[in-house]
Amino acid sequence: MASVTLENIQKAYGDVQVVRGVDLAIADGEFVALLGPSGCGKTTTLRMIAGLEEPTGGKVLIGDEIVSNPAQNIFVPPEKRRLGMVFQSYAVWPHMSVAQNVAYPLKLQGSGRAERDVAVQRALDMVQLGHLGKRMPHQLSGGQQQRVALARALAMEPRVLLLDEPLSNLDAHLREELRREISLIRARTGLTIVYVTHDQEEALALADRIVILDGGRIRQAGPPPEVYTAPVDAFVGGFIGKASFLPVDLVGSGVKVAGVDVAVDAEGLPEGPAQLMLRPEAIVLSESGIPAKVTSVTYLGDRHELWLDIAGTAVRAHVETPAAPGDQVHVSFTRVKLFPVDSP
Ligand SMILES: Nc1ncnc2c1ncn2[C@@H]1O[C@H](COP(=O)(O)OP(=O)(O)OP(=O)(O)O)[C@@H](O)[C@H]1O
Ligand SMILES: [Mg+2]
Repeated sequence: MASVTLENIQKAYGDVQVVRGVDLAIADGEFVALLGPSGCGKTTTLRMIAGLEEPTGGKVLIGDEIVSNPAQNIFVPPEKRRLGMVFQSYAVWPHMSVAQNVAYPLKLQGSGRAERDVAVQRALDMVQLGHLGKRMPHQLSGGQQQRVALARALAMEPRVLLLDEPLSNLDAHLREELRREISLIRARTGLTIVYVTHDQEEALALADRIVILDGGRIRQAGPPPEVYTAPVDAFVGGFIGKASFLPVDLVGSGVKVAGVDVAVDAEGLPEGPAQLMLRPEAIVLSESGIPAKVTSVTYLGDRHELWLDIAGTAVRAHVETPAAPGDQVHVSFTRVKLFPVDSP
């Protein structure tokens, strides 16, 4: 197990900067999720840690070892970094059995037969495939193939486990099952994990810390509850969890919505146009308060999702009591965040 340190790492393809100076210290044993929209540089960042991509600037350290620093002409190739990697496409070798797939990197490392057999069985047991070592990949489901890829990465006892959207090709049910398993493996092994995803739910569920990237830069890094409840800007607020944004006017230190005062923390914000971020669970139906019209209702099993028209803006609310489209209701907000209007 080892820490991973990124110091101002950069990647350009020709004139196009895709990673623009990322600084990140990942502690030994930490589970970090890299999250962000398509094209923001998640995979490129992960591949630079793996050594599959050479940074154009900055340093990468695994533990105390500098594995990449163009300024000093240092570049340690991937096979010398002792990292495990799992990709979105299962990438298991079709002509090898499950056990042979898992054994292959160990063979390359030069470990002996007996030692290899023990490591392979241990890794397969860890992903619940202990009984399927002799099967060929085409005899496995997608979820099982991804478990093979995971076992192969674990067998070599990597210093760090790197995962790039490992669950994206699985159906919702399998995704949740394997997600739980990754979390158990993590608890059992204490591995340092860097996990790329564009699925915010996965990041919230798994990670100790979420790093939100946008345009090759870090927008915010923090524990899941922090990025969820205290996003630094409207982009992060809108990306993590569900949120609606209401245009408001900041006058003094308060705002009004449909003529009703709403308490906000307006510190540091200039007076004038602003936007109020509302989480669906922070909107409650009340006897009096802000007038709203129910425009649609969806039953979600454990709650109802209402779309409300509040002062002309569509707002999503999750409530326990049902309502009907067309109902005139009143709402209040249990928690809000105020952002400047020009916040991206
Ligand atoms: N070999 C390459 N040559 C040129 N541009 C590239 C290359 N690889 C990636 N890019 C560009 O770099 C940017 C970041 O790509 P990257 O694969 O890191 O995104 P991502 O965050 O993983 O996105 P996704 O969620 O779609 O997987 C993208 O704009 C992409 O088009
Ligand atoms: Mg990617």
